[in-house]
Amino acid sequence: MAQKIERVGVLGAGLMGHGIVQVAAEAGHEVVVRELDEATLQKGLGKVEKQLARAVEKGRSSREDADAVRARIRGTVHYRDLADCDLVIEAITESLPLKLEMWREVDEIVKPDAVFATNTSSLAVVDQAAVTGRPERFVGLHYFNPAQVMKLVEVVRCVTTGEDAFQTALEFARGEGKLAIPTRDRAGFIVNRLLVPYMLDAIRAREEGVGSIAEIDEAMKAGAGHPMGPLTLADFVGLDTLGSICEVLFDEFRERRFAQPPALRKMLSAGWFGRKSGTGFYDYSGETPTENPGI
Ligand code: CAA
Repeated sequence: MAQKIERVGVLGAGLMGHGIVQVAAEAGHEVVVRELDEATLQKGLGKVEKQLARAVEKGRSSREDADAVRARIRGTVHYRDLADCDLVIEAITESLPLKLEMWREVDEIVKPDAVFATNTSSLAVVDQAAVTGRPERFVGLHYFNPAQVMKLVEVVRCVTTGEDAFQTALEFARGEGKLAIPTRDRAGFIVNRLLVPYMLDAIRAREEGVGSIAEIDEAMKAGAGHPMGPLTLADFVGLDTLGSICEVLFDEFRERRFAQPPALRKMLSAGWFGRKSGTGFYDYSGETPTENPGI
């Protein structure tokens, strides 16, 4: 049976975390978001603030509703403030050692009947579940960027996930107005298994000179009706995240389609992580993005 979720804890207020916080608060939950330090926390809360203000400006939300959402969100740098959460969602860096270290600490503090969820894009959910004392109460809740806009949440059942926790996660995502699609604990789940090789192929097409960066992007927008071209999307997802996902997928399946193209590896060495770092396939320092001449 699904458990009632009132209080939600979110670990990380970055690219995904801040959106997950906003969506949960908009659905009426009390939300506590934990970041490493005050400056990073304020940066994340600032992003939520910007989106709330924009929604009021555009008439999508009333000032009173935005204020109510704001009042339901509390930031902290301490795990202890998550103690009485009914559901804890992690959205920290896509690194298994960091996630395991964090879950070990959180598991000691948060009440034993709370459900734990990872927003991992590709790591095995069971690897995280297994370091907690509640592997049967552990699921994957995979949101898409921007979490405020994208309709889908993949709800991942791993081998240890119990029926109650799984139903709780499904109901929680549906309560946020999301399309909750159940899936199994296979690297990449549904979307990234299909989307990541597509982005990697676009990088290979660029390496082979099939088209310029902008030509490849414009072709897929105009020819396949995609809202963004694949190289813009790669920058949007974050090239560091894309690099980590394809390593995990390659490890799991050992197929060339998941292998990191040389151009991506070199961009990561250069510190070009896409839109978030200001440089990726495009340079984002001007008014409109321009092709990165270094690629
Ligand atoms: N946060 C909140 N809202 C946002 C937003 C953000 N970061 N970006 C855009 N929006 C909202 C805007 O406010 C706007 O809403 P209104 O019309 O009500 O004002 C709406 O989205 C449309 O935005 P724009 O008009 O500015 O731009 P757009 O029409 O080009 O849409 C987009 C932007 C929604 C991002 C669209 O380009 C798109 O759908 N792109 C593809 C995104 C995608 O594929 N995401 C999945 C990535 S894969 C992933 O996340 C999984 C993983 O594990 C890696």
